[in-house]
Amino acid sequence: MKMLVSGSARLQGQIVVSTSKNAILPILAASMLSSGTVIVRQIPLIRDVHIILALLHQMGLKVDHDQDRIAISGSPQHHVPDYELCRQIRASFLLMGPLLARCGQVQISLPGGCAIGTRPIDLHLKGFEALGASITMSGGCVNAAARRLTGTHVYLDFPSVGATENIMMAAALARGTTYIENAALEPEVVDLAGFINSMGGRVSSAGSNVIKVDGVSSLGGTTYTPIPDRIEAGTYMVAAAACGGDVLINNVIPEHIKATTAKLLESGAKIEEQADAVRVSRWQEIRPVYIKTLPYPGFPTDMQAQFMAYLCSARGSSIITESVFENRFMHVNQLLRMGAQIITEGRTAVVRGIPQLSGTTVKATDLRAGAALLIAAMAASGETIIEESEHIDRGYENIVSKLNHLGAKIYYL
Ligand code: EPZ
Repeated sequence: MKMLVSGSARLQGQIVVSTSKNAILPILAASMLSSGTVIVRQIPLIRDVHIILALLHQMGLKVDHDQDRIAISGSPQHHVPDYELCRQIRASFLLMGPLLARCGQVQISLPGGCAIGTRPIDLHLKGFEALGASITMSGGCVNAAARRLTGTHVYLDFPSVGATENIMMAAALARGTTYIENAALEPEVVDLAGFINSMGGRVSSAGSNVIKVDGVSSLGGTTYTPIPDRIEAGTYMVAAAACGGDVLINNVIPEHIKATTAKLLESGAKIEEQADAVRVSRWQEIRPVYIKTLPYPGFPTDMQAQFMAYLCSARGSSIITESVFENRFMHVNQLLRMGAQIITEGRTAVVRGIPQLSGTTVKATDLRAGAALLIAAMAASGETIIEESEHIDRGYENIVSKLNHLGAKIYYL
């Protein structure tokens, strides 16, 4: 797939953020923990969600689509998620915790690495072993088995979002109490805890460094609406600032985007926070800033590429350090093709601003790098073709129609 983007766009108007991809994926996995019917509302129709739903169906659950509502019922009928489907998205690994809890065993494909890093799973497996599972590897799969999981203390060497979520889901039906120490604080982790508790689970202090999970014997049905997508919101905020203009972004929790808001303010953008919206405008020059990505509530790694695209036209040099993933500068080479002046050394990039990037043909390498190129292309002079643009659509619902509604000119080729 390719996108053709006209440059020098000025974005004006209102845009609505969809429900969070990174909240929904673990919540859909956790629906397997329920012995009742789970209804999840406001599901974004994006590829990653479709793949997880296909996996739930393949596991034998009943999955009914009703516009943007999904009803999931039944229990997993086996413990081997489809290998080819799992390899298509890393988040499939989040099925491991629920399957271990419901079936007492699981055989799942090792999640592939991806453009941004090797994406290890050692912390997930450390948690499952601590809960009493025995783990073996064979043929590109992880095999885990446990008669009954038993609550325990698990210390995470790094506050991994996925490991925190996977261990929380396994612990929800374990015997006894589990403490996840040095847990991830991300809003998506808190939302997963809220979802599990809405089914009758007992997860407390999610959003702090130590999450306590009191295992229960079974979980019931629920109807749940996940949180808005803070990274989609941040992406549109940065797009509005990069292109200049005045955009009201609806369906936002301002608390979840504090770091992005702070850095945009430092760069000279104007931000007006409302109860569930944020208004972004920029009329003056872009000031350079220092960015270091950190686990929440630090500056989100998922916003790093988009912010770099914006800072390519700052009046001065910015410094960006990517401390979460080891290879998340894949967008740099593509921005250089557009005339950007960026030097990288290890996990640090120095971005020397120029007046305006120039349109050309570039390639999306991953979801957020693709979003960065879209921002760069809208702000650049001339036209840009973004190759492999499917990377963008897999994580942003209706992004082309949403941005064109604001005055962008983006076409699928
Ligand atoms: C989640 O990935 C998100 N994905 C990512 O968003 C996000 O970038 C990341 O959290 C960090 O915020 C989903 O929620 C589906 P991690 P996850 O485990 O859980 C290391 C996007 O663009 N680590 O917190 O895989 C790992 O190598 C995606 O929407 C271990 O060392 O992230 C990395 O350096 C990209 N061992 C760091 O932790 C482990 O067992 C953060 O990874 C697990 C992780």
